[in-house]
Amino acid sequence: MEPKGTAVVTGASRGIGRAVAIELAARGFETVASMRNPADGADLSGMRVERLDVTDPSTIALPEGLRVLVNNAGVESDNLPVEHMPIESWQRLFATNVFGLVEVTKRAVPIMRAAGGGVICNVTSSSTLAPVPFLGTYRASKAAVTAIGESLAAEVAQFGIRVIEIMPGPIETDMLAASDRPPAAAEHVEYRELAERLWEGRQGIRDAYTPADEAARRIVDAICDDHGPLRYGCDDLSVGMLAGWNGTDNAQWVRGMLRSFS
Ligand SMILES: NC(=O)c1ccc[n+]([C@@H]2O[C@H](COP(=O)([O-])OP(=O)(O)OC[C@H]3O[C@@H](n4cnc5c(N)ncnc54)[C@H](OP(=O)(O)O)[C@@H]3O)[C@@H](O)[C@H]2O)c1
Repeated sequence: MEPKGTAVVTGASRGIGRAVAIELAARGFETVASMRNPADGADLSGMRVERLDVTDPSTIALPEGLRVLVNNAGVESDNLPVEHMPIESWQRLFATNVFGLVEVTKRAVPIMRAAGGGVICNVTSSSTLAPVPFLGTYRASKAAVTAIGESLAAEVAQFGIRVIEIMPGPIETDMLAASDRPPAAAEHVEYRELAERLWEGRQGIRDAYTPADEAARRIVDAICDDHGPLRYGCDDLSVGMLAGWNGTDNAQWVRGMLRSFS
């Protein structure tokens, strides 16, 4: 795709979304950085800043001529075992990461169809490729987006709409910083040892932390990559994980991962 026409990014106040909005604008897209609180985008130049809360349908208004939608807005929760995760946390994560994304996407499809096609880019997580303990709620919300994206891709290819999925590894944002502490699961005695081992393992991936602007360059490359695959990493760790997952018998991949985590 040529970098022209209108691109909308959700959750562009900070982190990956903000970096992607800046990169899209730099490449020549007419960019709308959408966010819950537009004051957070006061210093963004060369683009429009608009209010959009994915959990509030009354705020979702997408522009005519939309060519690129980046479904980036997302939240996470404390890292707890399934046994102890409050149902309210499941509901909160799914409200934003799944139902909010669906609300925005439903409105994007007819507009893109009328514009002759475009790209819907869903930001999920490379964590769905590994059975990471205490991430069940977050991984489930992202895996739901994977399934929705696959069906959507099959439905809208006929309209010239390409659906892609970005599966980030550890990108240096507030979300990564918030998760950079021993898992809350350690408060539960039955899970303490596993939580401590997971925290030790986390130290081993610090070198793979990737700046958000570097991830954003790869994400916009993927958006413009007309004949590319459905799924992309956007940092060396996620690119490697995706290659491992693609190239291995899946049962063998999951068994190997389970051995390393438990
Ligand atoms: N960083 C990583 O290592 C990593 C790894 C894998 C996947 N991801 C995914 O990448 C995406 C971006 O994450 P990030 O690391 O940039 O996180 P972040 O720094 O925490 O930023 C999250 C963004 O989502 C926005 N948001 C949350 N709820 C929203 C809602 N209801 N409506 C609109 N916007 C909302 C936030 O807005 P406010 O400023 O208003 O809170 C913020 O702009 C997420 O989908 C995340 O799951 C990140």
